[in-house]
Amino acid sequence: MESSNNADEDHAIADNLEALWMPFTHNRLFKKKPRLIEKASGMYYESSDGRKVLDGISGLWCSNVGHNHPKISEAVKSQLDVLDFSPPFQVGHGLGFELANELIKVAPESINHVFFTNSGSEACDTAMKIALAYYQGLGEDRRYRFIGREKGYHGVGFGGISVGGIDANRKHYQKALLPDTKHICHTHNLSEMAFSKGQPRWGAHLADDLEELLKGNAASEVAGVIVEPMQGSAGVIVPPDGYLEKIRAICDRHNVLLIFDEVITGFGRLGEWFSPDRFGVVPDMITFAKGVTNGVIPLGGVLVNDQVFQSIMVGPEHLVEFFHGYTYSGHPLACAAGIAAMEVYRDEDLLSKARRLEQELEHQIHTLQGEPHVVDIRNLGMACAVEFSSKPNQPSVRAMEIFQKCFERGLMIRYTGDIIAIGPALVASTKEIEFIIETIREVVRDLA
Ligand SMILES: Cc1ncc(COP(=O)(O)O)c(C=O)c1O
Repeated sequence: MESSNNADEDHAIADNLEALWMPFTHNRLFKKKPRLIEKASGMYYESSDGRKVLDGISGLWCSNVGHNHPKISEAVKSQLDVLDFSPPFQVGHGLGFELANELIKVAPESINHVFFTNSGSEACDTAMKIALAYYQGLGEDRRYRFIGREKGYHGVGFGGISVGGIDANRKHYQKALLPDTKHICHTHNLSEMAFSKGQPRWGAHLADDLEELLKGNAASEVAGVIVEPMQGSAGVIVPPDGYLEKIRAICDRHNVLLIFDEVITGFGRLGEWFSPDRFGVVPDMITFAKGVTNGVIPLGGVLVNDQVFQSIMVGPEHLVEFFHGYTYSGHPLACAAGIAAMEVYRDEDLLSKARRLEQELEHQIHTLQGEPHVVDIRNLGMACAVEFSSKPNQPSVRAMEIFQKCFERGLMIRYTGDIIAIGPALVASTKEIEFIIETIREVVRDLA
């Protein structure tokens, strides 16, 4: 939204916006020139100044079937009149069980239980607690450490930021992080893999870093390794060919649980329900959120394999096996949204559509090679990123300006550092993908 020229009006807007402390936002700058959204439908938002803005990032990697899908909206509205809430502890409701059953149908065969949370952050912390409970069930309570990956994002809980590897998310909390958490090296290497299409050929050997961290006696204290199969928040960092396979083999060799954080990569983003169908690598647990309800009502969860689940289902039956849960775990409205969203993915054949569109997106995004300041372009599934060289002494300003100018020209993208990320809904048309790429091209040229 353009700010008004009238000083009084500007002041009124600023006063109005002051109470809300916005997450992951430069609050002071934003409130000087706010971008406000009023409506959404399909691929588009409408801003408060009445402009159409194409959503190039599926909300926040979540509105995978497009906004305000009538089937999901209808399911939530009618559920509201039937059961608004029921406690998830010691009482159940049908929709929770139904959604869990639907989820395990599309998960890898070995994974057959679901624990519901409300967000991806809670899903990651929950998966870490499950790993600890698993080893305690096996009598191996020396296993309490975790290994994450540099540049990894696993939400904002203390577990998640401990295994997460994005410095900005950790810097204020260093001393309060889980002790003894380690990180394997990331796989982002411009000199070896810049402008790769899909999975880079180079880099599988980087998984050997995990072997280093587990060698000797070290593995006997490690409960789990958590990685995003494709790193989303750090700017679409695609796993090299063979890399995830190696990570799995090393975890197996050292009897360490492997957790895939699929909060972004699940629900069609990589053209499959979950990444094992894309990469052929099956973890012990999968965390999910976002696309499960199409972002309509918050819901997340952890998909857990049978071995892990059974090791915790022990002890006297009248005792709670796992002391963990949220008031809103499996909220009826969220489950109604989840069941409806899964029907939409199926009925509209959106996974196949995503696989077809991936080719188009790959082709088009790579035409930005050679535009000013572009140093890398990466893509996989319906996700891609363009990395720019930073302005001298002003890291992340270039990508921020591109983001702002794109919004002014009717396109919503995301930026992190000097990287812009694009992840359109799986219902995008070829024309809409073209609009995304051409808008970015114009903006980048204008700003050069
Ligand atoms: C891989 C991954 N894990 C966890 C999260 C955290 O999810 P939430 O913001 O729902 O807590 C995100 C959010 O973007 C994510 O991308």
